[in-house]
Amino acid sequence: MSWSGCLKVGLRPLAGDRIEYTHVSQPAMPVAVEKACQEGAGQVMSGAAETLARCCKPSTRLVILSGSGMSAESGIPTFRDAQTGLWSRFRPEDLATPEAFARDPERVWRWYEHRRDGVRAARPHAGHRALVDLETRVARLTIVTQNVDGLHQRSGSQRVLELHGNILRSICSVSRKPISETWLSTAEDVPPRSPHTSEGLARPDVVWFGESLPEHAFHEAVGEVNNCDVCIAVGTSALVQPAASLPMIAREAGAFLAEINPVPTPLSNHVDVFLREPAGRALTQLLSIMQAMPG
Ligand code: OAD
Repeated sequence: MSWSGCLKVGLRPLAGDRIEYTHVSQPAMPVAVEKACQEGAGQVMSGAAETLARCCKPSTRLVILSGSGMSAESGIPTFRDAQTGLWSRFRPEDLATPEAFARDPERVWRWYEHRRDGVRAARPHAGHRALVDLETRVARLTIVTQNVDGLHQRSGSQRVLELHGNILRSICSVSRKPISETWLSTAEDVPPRSPHTSEGLARPDVVWFGESLPEHAFHEAVGEVNNCDVCIAVGTSALVQPAASLPMIAREAGAFLAEINPVPTPLSNHVDVFLREPAGRALTQLLSIMQAMPG
């Protein structure tokens, strides 16, 4: 499949390249999940976690697709959770598009400064550490993340593909060349001027709506999901394309598909197992089941 023209971030299916901010309602809960919740999610989860653990063998190629729910237990807000999600309090059109930056660069820069402070203060949680340990128990573990906080790398994960960039890095708005912390720390303007071009400004090295994903990272991610045995989507609403398509590509290529999320998503009806739990609890449980399994 050719991905040219499909790399722009948006909520529409792959062919679209425009952003739509219409409300997307939560899908109806799958009957099995609803029943599971009534019966006691923890108990059912451990059955699902055992099934998933049995699929993660020393020869397994595992892909984790993480979203902002993965960082929620580190204190970093998600985007779409009611009340706590960033997009319930701010409009992405005002803060996360190239047009917003062109209109009001100071406002956008200050908002990202605020978010950067939160990311700097955050620490990886037990779920991040469980993924680091999992790396030693399977043949290959690749984390494909939509998160821009770098927490997977800070916790020690080795193979991390960042699809939406990294909020702690800055680039020139014109040349897209990196801008160092040293330059930023001495700058007086908000946002700082770019050292690379006279008309450029510093901007966060993140992908905004309507912009394209880093081509190399996305193509690598497609290669990984096409060749994996197990894919686990963790803490993502599975609404933002093209990242949201990756688990389905894995499934179509024959992988076992799992999801970890306290709330069902559009993906939930398509997965082999759904662990309806926060990432920290689900991943540590998965790890402890794997540790207890006979080698
Ligand atoms: P969303 O905010 O859309 O979804 C977060 C998901 O995490 C929801 O499905 C929650 O139910 C789930 N969640 C919340 N707490 C959790 C926990 N403790 N453990 C596990 N899951 C939990 O965030 P993303 O799917 O990451 O893009 O959003 C994708 C993209 O949309 C982001 O990368 C960002 C955003 O606009 C850009 O900025 C380009």
